[in-house]
Amino acid sequence: MSLGIGIVGLHEGKSMLKALTHSVPDSVSHGHLLSDGEPGRTEHCHAVGAFDIDAVKREAAAKLVPGLHYPDSIEDLLDHPEIDIVAIYTPDSTHAELVVKAFEAGKHVICTKPLVNDLSHIRPVLDARDRSGKRLMVGQSTRFFEPFAQQRKRTLSGEFGEIEFVDAQYCHRMDWFYDKSPWAITDSDWIFLGMSHPLDLLRWYLGPIKSVHAIGTISALGREVGIKSPDIYSVQVESEDGRLGRAFGHYGLIELPSARNAIELMVYGSRGTSLAQYHDMRLKRTGDGGPEVTEDWLYQERGYFFNNEVHGMHYGEFARYADAFAHAILTGVAASPELDEGIDVVLLMEAARRSAQCGSPVQIQDVRQEAGLG
Ligand SMILES: NC(=O)c1ccc[n+]([C@@H]2O[C@H](COP(=O)([O-])OP(=O)(O)OC[C@H]3O[C@@H](n4cnc5c(N)ncnc54)[C@H](O)[C@@H]3O)[C@@H](O)[C@H]2O)c1
Repeated sequence: MSLGIGIVGLHEGKSMLKALTHSVPDSVSHGHLLSDGEPGRTEHCHAVGAFDIDAVKREAAAKLVPGLHYPDSIEDLLDHPEIDIVAIYTPDSTHAELVVKAFEAGKHVICTKPLVNDLSHIRPVLDARDRSGKRLMVGQSTRFFEPFAQQRKRTLSGEFGEIEFVDAQYCHRMDWFYDKSPWAITDSDWIFLGMSHPLDLLRWYLGPIKSVHAIGTISALGREVGIKSPDIYSVQVESEDGRLGRAFGHYGLIELPSARNAIELMVYGSRGTSLAQYHDMRLKRTGDGGPEVTEDWLYQERGYFFNNEVHGMHYGEFARYADAFAHAILTGVAASPELDEGIDVVLLMEAARRSAQCGSPVQIQDVRQEAGLG
């Protein structure tokens, strides 16, 4: 059985549309077949339709993938009986309203990161979820990129021993993003828009976070475009069980030297360390006195992840999390990150934002209480 997906927001959402409908253009099929018999990316879900408030985006999507349902209202999309999961890729500040609508229409939800960018949006989303009895997965794409998935598997197998420190970054020059999406200047904060990747990775490895100490400043590019909140953040966290982590983000830098990747996750364990990288699709690891090992999936997996557009969009990660969520719904098992874990990351992002503003550590419990979560 395969669940039907309706997509809302057709820029990043168009990557999801393409990921669900286009065959994989080289030998890497992951064993799944599209309905026309071509090798594809998902087994448990398929695209049914898509909506964007911009008619031009809808027309472009209908040209890219003819034969699906492209209504001119969100209500028509939500009414479609073959849509089981609504996948949301609209500006950060609109997520909560659309998630609530999707739950009220009786649908499961995939919401891209960040889940929400305002503390007051959490309660309505939780209440709507509880009323509907449906499920939500946050589209934390980095977790599903091959090196990060392999790093996780090796960590859980105990290969690196006890995890003692986690160091994550996402650095990316964003002038192109401001041109395309001016809402990033006025309606979000890089602590949500960009730092949702590394902060989610800290939460993934360290479990619930107890306290956060952050600093932030605005880059030359940020000043030029007129952002009001930092686009450079450095965040230190302590988990509830006393382990440490740090996250770094810079959205006004020039270019990274090739030794570094935009997203990196360094995991320090008592018996080994490992570094996962995005885009280069590498995992480097050391442990127990053995030689350093580098695994590089770029040429094996670029068809699945990038459609051979080295380096391309997020086709592989989006397809993987959609498939994992659909499989979890169909079999009744837990997926990750679902809503409660996603809310933990929102609390962490908000605590970091506040700490950077006030200059002192912020306790997650205080933010949780303010959000009305006890
Ligand atoms: N790695 C990732 O998972 C990843 C990468 C990039 C962006 N994102 C997230 O995806 C979201 C969208 O980012 P983007 O780069 O596509 O932004 P964008 O500005 O390029 O596109 C947003 C689209 O949503 C449409 N839209 C706006 N309000 C809408 C509404 N109420 N109903 C339907 N459509 C609406 C707009 O017309 C536009 O086409 C953001 O939350 C961003 O943080 C995630």
